[in-house]
Amino acid sequence: MTVHPPRVITATGLTKSYGRHRALSGVDLDVRQGEIFGFLGPNGAGKTTTIRIMLDLIRRDEGELSVLGHDPRTDGVHIRRDIGYLPGELAMSSRRPARELLTYLGNLRGGVSRGRIDELARRLGLDLARPIRGLSKGNKQKVGLVQAFMHEPRLLVLDEPTSGLDPLLQQEFLAMVREARDEGRTVFMSSHVLSEVQDVADRAAIIRRGRIVAVEDMDALRERSSRKITLRFTEPVSGDQFAAAENVREVAVEGDTLHCVVDGSPDALVKLAAQHTVLTLTSEEPDLEELFFIHYNGGGADAGAEGEADRDAAA
Ligand SMILES: Nc1ncnc2c1ncn2[C@@H]1O[C@H](COP(=O)(O)OP(=O)(O)OP(=O)(O)O)[C@@H](O)[C@H]1O
Ligand SMILES: [Mg+2]
Repeated sequence: MTVHPPRVITATGLTKSYGRHRALSGVDLDVRQGEIFGFLGPNGAGKTTTIRIMLDLIRRDEGELSVLGHDPRTDGVHIRRDIGYLPGELAMSSRRPARELLTYLGNLRGGVSRGRIDELARRLGLDLARPIRGLSKGNKQKVGLVQAFMHEPRLLVLDEPTSGLDPLLQQEFLAMVREARDEGRTVFMSSHVLSEVQDVADRAAIIRRGRIVAVEDMDALRERSSRKITLRFTEPVSGDQFAAAENVREVAVEGDTLHCVVDGSPDALVKLAAQHTVLTLTSEEPDLEELFFIHYNGGGADAGAEGEADRDAAA
């Protein structure tokens, strides 16, 4: 018998309208303790709205919701104490240095050691002595991340955490997320970027037009997902041998350059390519639209048509 870990977030049928505009049309979520849960979706899909409802910063119209065992509507204060929250749109204009703000926030949460703030700032390359209002977007984002992580909350809710961070810092951030998970914390993070979610998440939900259209185990998705790969060799190659390789399709050769699509493991392609001298290799990840194709019929041209996906998901 499998024992399921306790649920940290459960949502059933969440709806939310802003005036006449419907932002959420029945969102269901189920996040387990100790997992990194990605929340993927295009602009305007409803990610921030869902997150704000979890934190009781705005109220749902309908549906059931439990976060850390409480309903945010009645126990918002309680819940927020145990959550590290990074808002999607950080508005910080204080003249005070970052260290002062962080210490103040730490005290509100029952005290955070100076060493902990220093360590997080060092990892993210944040200068704590500078006034917040003069910081660049990326540096403000770092202040937001330090305050989300510093009190070692049971649940981290991070809305677009890597926006504004350069690639090295994105990696550092992802390492922090994995460490939090390894310590038993739960991480719920929204993103547009499939690759970072694929790298770090255990599971992910895809939201589109206010509905969850898929919940995926990342290992399964990694195995199935397709990539466009381009290889440039020192000499012209023949496409035929590559077209016959396992998991390889849509092979096109222009002189010394080969384009193809690989579904799942590129092992066979790499081994064939190794028989030649490779000058460059580029791999493009599928964007979210292509991911919908993967879901709705393994690549059909109309699989991503608007409305179609929503209907399938509702069925
Ligand atoms: N305060 C608001 N008033 C009116 N409409 C809003 C408000 N906030 C969000 N919306 C609308 O609700 C929908 C969902 O917005 P939301 O911010 O939740 O999307 P998102 O998935 O976070 O998008 P993004 O990736 O751009 O951050 C959008 O159509 C948006 O225009
Ligand atoms: Mg948002």
